[in-house]
Amino acid sequence: MSTAQPLLELRGVNKHFHGGGIFKQGRKVQAIKQVSLSLGARECLGLVGESGSGKSTLGRIILGIEKPESGEALFQGVNLYGKDKAAIRQVRRDLQVVFQDCFSSVNPRMTAGESITEPLKNYARLSYLDQLRTVGNLLELVGLRAEDACKYPHQFSGGQLQRVCIARAISLRPKLIVLDEAVSSLDILAQSQILELLSDLREELDMSYIFISHDIAAVVQLSDRLVVMSSGEIVERLDNMEEFNYLTHPVSLALLAAVLPAQPENRIASDHRVF
Ligand SMILES: Nc1ncnc2c1ncn2[C@@H]1O[C@H](COP(=O)(O)OP(=O)(O)OP(=O)(O)O)[C@@H](O)[C@H]1O
Ligand SMILES: [Mg+2]
Repeated sequence: MSTAQPLLELRGVNKHFHGGGIFKQGRKVQAIKQVSLSLGARECLGLVGESGSGKSTLGRIILGIEKPESGEALFQGVNLYGKDKAAIRQVRRDLQVVFQDCFSSVNPRMTAGESITEPLKNYARLSYLDQLRTVGNLLELVGLRAEDACKYPHQFSGGQLQRVCIARAISLRPKLIVLDEAVSSLDILAQSQILELLSDLREELDMSYIFISHDIAAVVQLSDRLVVMSSGEIVERLDNMEEFNYLTHPVSLALLAAVLPAQPENRIASDHRVF
């Protein structure tokens, strides 16, 4: 990969769905409209927008699992929807995802250790001892104990299980992780601990993130850049988070208003600071 080439590049991507159900029959939903963006190595791009604005659809396009009708999705220079299947398989291991609902992201009948080794088994043959060692290291890397490998999902708290899902996502040492509302269902304390963990892991493992959330405050904490989506389009971009107070699009302002303190006297006059 040449140094000039971005890790990820979307060029004019479009995606629509046909509405289902008796009331929506035939209705076309343009979920993604002409989206272009790029992401460099070790960068975190925040993706915010109201519900239904197309964030998860865009996330799935980036992961190579939702084919767009038009436009290109290039990861490490490889067209994720192109003809070179061998190259696609090769780069797909560098793309991982962590979803919001950690309880449904893991098999309830699998131990944490088994869940974490699942992606590894797709790409490498590991001896039992190597698996144990790898799982122990990964659990410690995400702030859990090696012994936790034997526990089942219901024996973890939401925050702990999200750490298991993060351990699974980093097991193949990916270059990019799509975090789709990955902290949204956690309480404030667990949320800030996971954000801190993600920030440390990014440094340690040289990863990039696409951090999807409707919570602009969480996004600001982790991201270097920000894009705001509305009805499938990018309506505002911020390349420097220090300019955060200068967001102007009504959707950006509405997302900001949602995280301002409820008490008007606690609001920061004339700006939108959330920290
Ligand atoms: N498989 C699908 N079939 C039909 N419509 C879909 C499908 N997936 C998404 N959509 C529609 O595409 C639009 C974008 O959905 P998407 O899930 O990407 O939004 P989102 O920004 O992630 O929302 P949320 O914040 O609620 O997760 C919505 O109108 C949704 O109903
Ligand atoms: Mg979503």
